[in-house]
Amino acid sequence: MNTLGSFRLDGAHALVTGASRGIGKAVAVALAQAGADLALSARTPAALKETAELVEKEGRTAVLVPGDLTDPGAADTVVDVSAAALGGLDVLVHNAGILPTLPDGSPALVPLQASAQEDWDQVLSVNLNATAALCRRAHRHLAASSRASVVLMSSLAGVVGTPMMEAYAASKAAQISLARSLAVGWAREGIRVNALCPGWTRTDMTAFAYSTGPLSDWLMAHVPMGRWAEPHEVACAALYLASPAASYLTGQALLLDGGASVPDGGLAGIPKPPSPFAA
Ligand SMILES: NC(=O)c1ccc[n+]([C@@H]2O[C@H](COP(=O)([O-])OP(=O)(O)OC[C@H]3O[C@@H](n4cnc5c(N)ncnc54)[C@H](OP(=O)(O)O)[C@@H]3O)[C@@H](O)[C@H]2O)c1
Repeated sequence: MNTLGSFRLDGAHALVTGASRGIGKAVAVALAQAGADLALSARTPAALKETAELVEKEGRTAVLVPGDLTDPGAADTVVDVSAAALGGLDVLVHNAGILPTLPDGSPALVPLQASAQEDWDQVLSVNLNATAALCRRAHRHLAASSRASVVLMSSLAGVVGTPMMEAYAASKAAQISLARSLAVGWAREGIRVNALCPGWTRTDMTAFAYSTGPLSDWLMAHVPMGRWAEPHEVACAALYLASPAASYLTGQALLLDGGASVPDGGLAGIPKPPSPFAA
C-alpha cells in the first residue's frame, strides 16, 4: 500500500457545497489536486466559475450546480444534477453554512434572548436542514460507490459553548450528531461519514473579526497556537477525511482548531486581553 497514494482521489466524483469562496473553494481545489472531478454548488454562479477555473487548471472536470439550499427541493436537485453530470457520486462535502446576518449582510451577534425565531430558522435551514436533505438524497448515489465518504463542515462552535452564536453552535453540534448516526447506519454499505470542526478560519464569514484588531487579538488569545487558520489548512483535513487515507475512520468529529478546544488548563500561562464584549 502506497501511503501517499492513499490520499489520492483519482477519478472520484465529488460534490462540494459552498464552493464559491472561503473554505469550500479551498476544499474543491484540494480534491481536484488529488484527482477528483467536481460538482460545485453555491448561490453565486460567477464566483463558482472562478473556482471551476482553478479546478480545471488542475486538469479535472468542474460542473457548476448553482442553487440556494434554503429553497425547497434545492438539495435534491443539486445532488441529482451533480451525480448525473459527473456519472455518480463518491464524495459529498457539505460545507455551505452561515452565521445569522443583519439586512446589510453583517453578522447578527446577539444573545439568544435578544434574537428572533426567524434568525434561528435562517441559520438552521442552511446549516442543518440542508445537511439532512443533501445526505438523504446523496445516499442512493453513495451506496453505489466503492469509496463513499461524506464530510460535514461543522465547527469548533459545535463542541464548545459559544455565546451570541447559539443557533450557529446548535446547528454545528447537530451536524456532529448526524455524522455519528449516519456513520453507524451506513457503515455496512461502505459509506463513511465524518464531521470536520475548524476553529477560527480567515474567510469572508470571519472578516468582521479578523479585521477588527481588539476582537481578533482577544479571540486569538483563546487559541493556543495564537493565530487564525487558513482555508487551505482546513482543506487538507477535508481531503484526508474524504480519501482512502481515512478508510477506517467514520463517525468522528475532527477538531482543527489550533488547540482551542483543549480544556482550559492548557491555556493557563497565556495572558488574555480584556474582552471587547465587556460593558
Ligand atoms: N470561517 C470560520 O472561521 C469557520 C469556522 C468553523 C466552521 N466554518 C464553517 O465552514 C463552512 C464554510 O465557511 P466559510 O468561512 O468558508 O464561509 P463563507 O466564506 O461565508 O462561505 C460560505 C459558503 O456557503 C455558501 N452559501 C451560503 N448560503 C448559502 C445558501 N443559502 N445556499 C447555498 N450556498 C450557500 C456561500 O456561497 P454563496 O454566497 O455564493 O451562496 C459560500 O460559498 C461553513 O459551514 C462554516 O460554518 C467556518
